[in-house]
Amino acid sequence: MKGPGPEEALLAQLDRSRLPRHVAIIMDGNGRWAQMRGLPRTYGHRAGVESLREVVRACVELGIKYLTVYAFSTENWKRPREEVNELMDLLVEYLYKEIEELAANNVNLHPIGRLQDLPPHAREALEMAVSRTRHNTGLVLNLALNYGGRSELVDAVRALARLVKEGMLSPEEIDESTVAAHLYTAGQPDPDLLIRPSGDFRISNFLLWQLSYTEFWLTPVMWPDFRRVHLLQALVDFQRRERRFGGLSRGEVSCCGTGS
Ligand code: IPE
Ligand code: IPE
Ligand code: MG
Repeated sequence: MKGPGPEEALLAQLDRSRLPRHVAIIMDGNGRWAQMRGLPRTYGHRAGVESLREVVRACVELGIKYLTVYAFSTENWKRPREEVNELMDLLVEYLYKEIEELAANNVNLHPIGRLQDLPPHAREALEMAVSRTRHNTGLVLNLALNYGGRSELVDAVRALARLVKEGMLSPEEIDESTVAAHLYTAGQPDPDLLIRPSGDFRISNFLLWQLSYTEFWLTPVMWPDFRRVHLLQALVDFQRRERRFGGLSRGEVSCCGTGS
């Protein structure tokens, strides 16, 4: 008799009551995936869209509440114009192709980043997708576009400075929750789990504030090869981690802690 496949085995290990509320992914490795196959980099971006589709579906099925995917950084404009154009065209194509399924799956699309600097056809497609999914109450899909963690903090600082200047806020009133409330992710929990494929070990200006206590899961798998099974593996590994948030582990507290 055939045993369970790797996905079933991982699903069996997964505790559905302790899933991360928020998963963030740096969708990296598209270019290398293509180059390893002797193809132009843009083929890798195209193949990467299928991975995104599969991961979004899996998050919907599992009931994960927030998924943030890094699609284009504030630094990615440094790439050749043809590659940037292809990425923008792919985004537009993805949104028009996927909108029915996203809407049917109760996904709420929430683009984050300096969207005002995106080309007009990309902004139009985003407006369409946002308005189609505005009232959806399922997975919140944060699509990070022209996103930079530093520019997000600059935007928050500017917004707070304006409030202070207008006399609506005093500097003493500013605390961590005030800052968090002026980020693009206002009102959302911080990511519990960050996934970076492609074998690189860096943040690349992603969610600098929000990742303070996020668990990192890194894999050499390139994004276009990333499948549901890899997500499940990341979730199972995540559930084996002990998060301390600067405190002590449960064992240490019950054994020797002074308590308070
Ligand atoms: C990620 O893949 C997609 C974007 C940054 C837009 P890359 O294009 O960075 O692929 P690699 O890292 O060069 O392989
Ligand atoms: C991060 O990947 C941005 C996205 C995946 C959209 P990069 O490929 O741009 O990051 P670096 O340049 O390798 O740090
Ligand atoms: Mg890259």
